[in-house]
Amino acid sequence: TKTKAEPKSSGVTNGGARIVVDGDDEVLSPTDLSEMLAEGTKDSHDKAENCQFVKDFLRGRIKRELFKRGTAALYFVYAAMEEEIEKNEDHPHIAPIYFPAELHRREALAQDLEYFYGEDWESQISLSAGTKPYVDRIHEVGQRDPVLLVAHSYTRYMGDLSGGQILKKVAQRALKLPSTGEGLNFYQFEGIHSQKGFKQLYRSRMNELELDAETKERIVGESNRAFSFNMMVFTELEEIGKTIKEEVQDAGLGHSHAEIMEGG
Ligand code: HEM
Repeated sequence: TKTKAEPKSSGVTNGGARIVVDGDDEVLSPTDLSEMLAEGTKDSHDKAENCQFVKDFLRGRIKRELFKRGTAALYFVYAAMEEEIEKNEDHPHIAPIYFPAELHRREALAQDLEYFYGEDWESQISLSAGTKPYVDRIHEVGQRDPVLLVAHSYTRYMGDLSGGQILKKVAQRALKLPSTGEGLNFYQFEGIHSQKGFKQLYRSRMNELELDAETKERIVGESNRAFSFNMMVFTELEEIGKTIKEEVQDAGLGHSHAEIMEGG
């Protein structure tokens, strides 16, 4: 789980604001956007981690057909998100968190879909009913309220950088995918050497955005919405899974949840 030690006060003051030093000795204030997001989405994160589809996935109980559909859903989500981010790349609230070479996943997902569906993958996938509201919302905020793209980026990319390596191993084992990484490009951030280091850079960039308190709160609200949209996608996949006849072999990592998730 993503609980961490309570930040301890360093006793340093900053114009009246409390400064806290977290377990990694990063200097943080409770009004920093990165802290507001981490705190303000804790409950959503707990729910996401504990929904049936995600729990099954972590145990290696994932059918190939469902994994393919999940990859297709992610393709539509990232294509929308990256299209809107690119349109807004010069926006002062987007430019500092614009890292296409390091983060963008659309191309990686396209390669994975080609591996799973073949050359004509594009004609074989479609935007599902459970994914469409998420995609629509991303386009809406990109067009009407681009600062909220910060929330969508945070929710997906920071999550991918946190649990991605575990999910990759689980999928590789459960679906017997080649060790070359084919079909799993999504989980491989070729442009990032240190996930932890990059997460710190991304947090500091979010914290340097010039935002008033109300806008920060709206970003936290939008991130919780993004978590809900992800849950809708998972719920739909879980429902489809019940109708698919396919063998799954329990190929989870054989560790406790807390143990495998340490150190994200
Ligand atoms: C962070 C685990 C699912 C979004 C993390 C961290 C872990 C973790 C260990 C690192 C916490 C830290 O650095 O302090 C898991 C597990 C999941 C899961 C086991 C179930 C498979 C999700 C989902 C999403 C998500 C479905 C959203 C789509 C995030 C975000 C962060 C994060 C945004 C960054 C939190 C922050 O530092 O502000 N997760 N996660 N996670 N996860 Fe997840």
